[in-house]
Amino acid sequence: MARIFKAEEKLSPDYIPGRLPHRDNELRLLRTFFSGVISGSSMISTRVIVTGSVGTGKSALVKLFGATAEEEARRNGVNLRFLYVNCRISKSTFVVLSRLIEQLRARIGARGFANEELLHRILNYLELKNMYAIIALDEVDLLISRGEDILYLLSRIGEEREGPPRISIILITRNPEIFDLLDESTRSSLLGNVIHLSEYDSGQLYDILKFRAEEALMPGVLLEESLRLIADLAGERGDARYALDILWRAGKYAEAENSRVITPEHVRKAAASIYPAVRREHLEFLNQHERLILLALARSLQGGQAYITTADLYQNYQLICEEYSAEPRAYTSFWEHLQRLDDLGIIRIKVRSDGIKGRRSYISLPGIPATILQAELESILRRQS
Ligand SMILES: Nc1ncnc2c1ncn2[C@@H]1O[C@H](COP(=O)(O)OP(=O)(O)OP(=O)(O)O)[C@@H](O)[C@H]1O
Ligand SMILES: [Mg+2]
Repeated sequence: MARIFKAEEKLSPDYIPGRLPHRDNELRLLRTFFSGVISGSSMISTRVIVTGSVGTGKSALVKLFGATAEEEARRNGVNLRFLYVNCRISKSTFVVLSRLIEQLRARIGARGFANEELLHRILNYLELKNMYAIIALDEVDLLISRGEDILYLLSRIGEEREGPPRISIILITRNPEIFDLLDESTRSSLLGNVIHLSEYDSGQLYDILKFRAEEALMPGVLLEESLRLIADLAGERGDARYALDILWRAGKYAEAENSRVITPEHVRKAAASIYPAVRREHLEFLNQHERLILLALARSLQGGQAYITTADLYQNYQLICEEYSAEPRAYTSFWEHLQRLDDLGIIRIKVRSDGIKGRRSYISLPGIPATILQAELESILRRQS
């Protein structure tokens, strides 16, 4: 039987590659920000925010950095631990703190303590062991939008304690605007060191795919034209996860057909199976507010423009809610709905630099004409009311 994969697990989302092509500058920047922490000489707590759209390598970058930072610190005689928590999974301050304790393997019982006390106990532990920690909170917007107080605790308690700061943090989010929701003092203590990962272009995705294919596939199975096709297809989204997903599935189609190579036709099948063009059935699965948001988007883009800002879309959504006598959702749940629509591939959220105004997120509709979407949604919504 022809073999396609050499190490299939190296294409899985959890695998952290040993290097990240086209992210050298960002990795270097992280090292610079944390150089004091890594050398054990930092007198102030370092805080860095990493932003970027879906699949731009935020999680991979931070995890790779964390692993190398621990190593480098060890060579400097500094006991540094990298602690990573995904807030999509750990949804409250208490659960996040419990995860940190687990990763430290500290003998601290979490139950029965208030969050603040728990954080003090973690800090006591670090002091006792003369340890430092870099805490990465991934998808942190999900904690902030729930009104969890972890960022407030981390920024305030750090300042209360004597001695060198034991904890520094990396916050990861697709949406930089989420920080507008924090109170002023927490916000100003966090902002400053922002690393923005821009979307990959086809050329960059080509290099990334080539490198990852070398790790995961048998030599020679990925035809040059197939590689180019994946890079082009994914280039429109700028999303490395999407690119790698197509590669993996194309490999699976090739395997199933007992083909010795991955052909462009395998690639096309793979791409079509991931985000089939938006169909009516998909819209039926959405909840009412997701439909109302999509309708607002479809109407906003009728005039022919490609993008609308999240803030403008929120306003238009409120108008649509009025029209359909629905109570508009708060901005934070509006944002969560947007993320789901993005995950489903129906809309695209792109973060762009907007001159002095800072970074803004823009929403587009890649897979379906706005007029058709509008007609479909209006008929579904009419049927329901
Ligand atoms: N420069 C790169 N080189 C090699 N692989 C990469 C690179 N950037 C991203 N990847 C891979 O692409 C996939 C998506 O990256 P990652 O999960 O880091 O994206 P993300 O920005 O965290 O996305 P999300 O917003 O959905 O969490 C991962 O499998 C990752 O290993
Ligand atoms: Mg991620």
